[in-house]
Amino acid sequence: MRLDEARRDLYRRLAREQGYKSRAAFKLIESNERYGFLRPGGKVLDLGAAPGGWMQVAAELVGPSGLVVGVDLDKIRLREKNVVSLKMDVHDPGLVAKVEPLLGGKADVILSDLAPSVSGVWEIDQGRQVDLTLRVLEIARALLGDRGSVFCKLFEGERSQFVRDEFRRLFTSVRTVKPAASRNASSELYYFCEGMKKATVPSD
Ligand SMILES: C[S@@+](CC[C@H](N)C(=O)[O-])C[C@H]1O[C@@H](n2cnc3c(N)ncnc32)[C@H](O)[C@@H]1O
Repeated sequence: MRLDEARRDLYRRLAREQGYKSRAAFKLIESNERYGFLRPGGKVLDLGAAPGGWMQVAAELVGPSGLVVGVDLDKIRLREKNVVSLKMDVHDPGLVAKVEPLLGGKADVILSDLAPSVSGVWEIDQGRQVDLTLRVLEIARALLGDRGSVFCKLFEGERSQFVRDEFRRLFTSVRTVKPAASRNASSELYYFCEGMKKATVPSD
């Protein structure tokens, strides 16, 4: 646990020094170094994006010819030129219609670091996080381009196996990542999914 705290402090300090809005930025940097999904010119949709650390990283990597659209319940304030922020609940049924014109088409990458505000009761929080992740898959069906990929967080617990099965139903390749900046004690894992299957029947 002490090691976890020291590591958290280290990433907080690094984020401050490098001008990132969150230490979470380093989870994305490390995962992208492994899989290389954020490429120049890419269109990225970031769900649960506030305060904006992942958006900053993605904006740097897609460069001026790329675009990052971030959605969150909270307002996101960033200076980068190739970013657009939208204050919206991801469960809002109007999200796809609102985001598609902002992206100017389909996304190359959908990111999700979505996490509910903590109630203190793990079963409730985990259940809500699973619902958020299932919503990410629904959005991916509508907004992800043919060769697109999804990088998203999932809290381990009840129904997480069901979500993993959904990942595999929708994508040909699903890989699990536990970035160094994610605390060992935290039951969050990240999944990198690519190769969306075309004939997937949407689940209820
Ligand atoms: C861990 S934070 C994301 C940190 C972000 N990746 C970064 O690097 O700055 C999780 C975010 O999910 C957002 N969130 C939770 N439920 C949401 C919902 N229903 N719709 C939109 N955003 C939501 C929270 O407001 C919070 O900002």
